[in-house]
Amino acid sequence: MSMQHVIKKAVIPAAGIGTRMLPATKAQPKEMLVIVDKPVIQYVVEEAVLSGITDILIIISDGKEVLREHFSKDQLLEDLLRRKGKMAELEEIIKLTTLCNIQFEYQHEQKGLGDAILCAEKFVGNDPFAVLLGDTIIESPQPLTGLLARDYEKTQSPVVALQQVGLSIAHRYGVFVGDKISDRFYKATQLVEKPPKDNIPSNMVFSGRYVFTPDIFRHLRNTAPGVNDEIQLTDAMRSLMTERDLYGHLFDGVRHDVGNKLDFIKTNVLLGLKNEEMKNQLKAWLGSL
Ligand code: G1P
Repeated sequence: MSMQHVIKKAVIPAAGIGTRMLPATKAQPKEMLVIVDKPVIQYVVEEAVLSGITDILIIISDGKEVLREHFSKDQLLEDLLRRKGKMAELEEIIKLTTLCNIQFEYQHEQKGLGDAILCAEKFVGNDPFAVLLGDTIIESPQPLTGLLARDYEKTQSPVVALQQVGLSIAHRYGVFVGDKISDRFYKATQLVEKPPKDNIPSNMVFSGRYVFTPDIFRHLRNTAPGVNDEIQLTDAMRSLMTERDLYGHLFDGVRHDVGNKLDFIKTNVLLGLKNEEMKNQLKAWLGSL
C-alpha cells in the first residue's frame, strides 16, 4: 500500500453554536463540555490518534480559542505540577499536548457543516482524509475512524459510518439508502439530509464519522444552501455520487451525541460506569436513587 492511500489527516468541525445546550454553551463551546473527566473534543481527538491519524485540523468559530488552549503546551502548569510532585497529572497533561499535530482554522460565519469542511481544503491538499464531528463520541470495539480508513484502503472510495435508528427519529439525521455488499457494508444509492417525517427512505443514518477523497471539495463549492438554509455535507456527497461510488459502514457500537441535554447526562452516566475509579460507587449510588 503506498503512503497516499493511508489516512493520516483528519478534519474536526467544531464551529457550531450549541443552541440546544444553552445556557451552558453561552461562553463555553459545546465541544469543551466535560464527560466524566475530560472535554468531548478530547475523546474525538483520541479516537483519531488511535485510528492512525497524525495531523488534525479543528475548525472553530470566533470565541472558541479555548479549544486551542486545551491542546497547547502550558509550561506554567507543567512547572507547578512538577513542583508539587503531581507526576501522574503532569504525565497526563504532557500526553494531551503531544497527542499529534493539531492545527486550527476559523469558520467565521456559521453556514453549515459543508461550509465548515470547505475551510479544510488547503490543509487536506491532495490526500484522502477523515472527518470526525467534534460533538460526537463514538464507543466501539475498535476506533471507528480506523475502520473507515481500512475500508478506504480496500475500496479507494469515500465511506461513511452508519447506524440504525428508529424511523420516528430518522428525520433528525442524514439518511443513507444503499445496496448491501457484504456484512455491515453498503454501496450508496441515495442520500438525503433530514428528510421530511412522512418520507423516510431508510433507517440507516450518518453517525458523525466519514472518510473522503479531496474531490469532495469541488462538490462542496458547488453546493447551494439546503435544509435549514445551510450548506449540507450530505448534498455535496450526493453530488459526488454521480461521479464515483460511495460506501456506508454499519458500525458495531454506540454514538453519544452530547449536543442535547438529556443525551449529555446519559453519556456522563454511561461513561462514568465504564470509568475504573468511579464505576462501583456510581453504580451503588444510582441503585440507591
Ligand atoms: C449532522 C449531519 C447529519 C448527521 C448528524 C449526525 O447533523 O448533517 O447528516 O446524521 O450530524 O450527528 P446535525 O446533528 O449537525 O444537525
